[in-house]
Amino acid sequence: MLDRVHAAALADRLRSAGYTLEEVTDRLGAEATDALARNTTLAARDALGDAADAQAALVRMFLLHDTVSPDAAGAALGDLGPLEEAGIVAATSDGVRAGLEVRPYAAAGAGVDFSGWIANDLIPILDGRLGRSRPDYVLGASPASTTLAQMTIRRPVARALDLGTGCGIQSLLLAGHADHVVATDLNPRAVAMAGLTAGLNGLDLDLRTGSLYEPVADEKFDLIVTNPPYVMSPPTGERLVYREGLFSADELVRRVVVEGADRLAPGGVLQVLGNWAVTDDEDWTDRLRGWIDPTGCDALVLQREHLDPYEYIEVWLNDAGLVGTDEYAARYRAWLDYFDALGITGVGMGWIMLHRSGSTTPDVRLEEWPHAVHQPLGEAFAAHLAGVAAATSDADLLARAWRLDERVDVETLGRPGAEDPEHIVYRQRYGFGRAVEVDTALGAVLGACDGDLTAAQIVGAVASILEVDADALAAEVVPRLRQLVVEGYLAPA
Ligand SMILES: C[S@@+](CC[C@H](N)C(=O)[O-])C[C@H]1O[C@@H](n2cnc3c(N)ncnc32)[C@H](O)[C@@H]1O
Repeated sequence: MLDRVHAAALADRLRSAGYTLEEVTDRLGAEATDALARNTTLAARDALGDAADAQAALVRMFLLHDTVSPDAAGAALGDLGPLEEAGIVAATSDGVRAGLEVRPYAAAGAGVDFSGWIANDLIPILDGRLGRSRPDYVLGASPASTTLAQMTIRRPVARALDLGTGCGIQSLLLAGHADHVVATDLNPRAVAMAGLTAGLNGLDLDLRTGSLYEPVADEKFDLIVTNPPYVMSPPTGERLVYREGLFSADELVRRVVVEGADRLAPGGVLQVLGNWAVTDDEDWTDRLRGWIDPTGCDALVLQREHLDPYEYIEVWLNDAGLVGTDEYAARYRAWLDYFDALGITGVGMGWIMLHRSGSTTPDVRLEEWPHAVHQPLGEAFAAHLAGVAAATSDADLLARAWRLDERVDVETLGRPGAEDPEHIVYRQRYGFGRAVEVDTALGAVLGACDGDLTAAQIVGAVASILEVDADALAAEVVPRLRQLVVEGYLAPA
């Protein structure tokens, strides 16, 4: 698309014009920035007024899709020739316009520190336009990209894989903590776009074209992240490569999980954003267990949402720009018929993590968790792995000292004036934001977990205060402690 020398020169131009996320946000203000995130440009136009400086020209071209004069484009970008050749800008009879978006992007905190740019196709629906995307459209940073980026465990690794890289957003962030990043995509335009994104940010990505794991054969990775094209749609009408694969129902996501597990190095982690089919004759957890159990990996699967077929189809017809078109009802009906034929009565959406822990008794947990979480979640997923590793035998659990996370609040609920509360809830102000109801004895044990005494000593003391048998109390408390360790309430002192 654009060689590295020209990409670096373009990045210099962007930087010196103040076309970074921080400076553009400062210039436009919060309202215009929020409006751009909603794909409307009027607030940004108001903020820019008739300004004609280089930063304004870049915002107009790449974010508002305006045509600017050749002089303004040249002043901002320098020699336009290589950029035209690479399709980044195009000359028209009225001036110069963008051929794709080069967007400032930044992310910081929780193991991430990035500021640069992302290249992606021009969004077709600015200002309420009824835009349709080309089938090989390369999507920019979407809410799903952000969700995956935030759930990614950011610890140093040797080799990471970004499957279905698109504009390259996950790879940019992986490059901050992986020695070697392989980025793959079925769509050659996406591979080229990710290459441009890498060039603009001075990153070396190992870019490969092909479907699923074909481009990596049997190479192994310490971390695999993917936001794959999980949309389950009928094989009729045009298909948008960024969202739908060529597989039936949720077969693509199944293959991502099963074949991904095969490519995990010892200790490696696979993190997937996915959709799965829900049918009347199988619980969703059984369906996913059927994928996961044979891999021999530990797993945490959280179903965040369940949509009925109508809700699901409407979301994706809207996404394809079909609302308001004559095709809408026919495409809707074809989609319903497709689900009917496959027995799909709903769609589960959520997060899948596999861990090649080497355990002979893999810890596989599948839960519905539609509640609010505290982003970013990478640390919560890492804490889950640590919790599973720490929650060993009953004897071990009792022999260790544990510390209750200081971000846990206790909520008590009961009748006014009552001597004892009816409910005691321990709620996390972090991570998955879990809440667990405890009884008096468990509450007393948890309250004493400050890293000083072992669990056995605390259980003994609580048993004597409550005048109950210590062994019986231990037998009751240990499974709950194990759960609380896995869920990140308690960590070894
Ligand atoms: C939803 S986009 C995700 C893009 C990017 N990783 C992100 O997080 O925003 C899915 C990507 O998968 C790619 N893709 C589609 N089918 C694929 C396949 N069979 N194998 C690999 N990649 C595929 C698409 O071209 C697209 O870039």
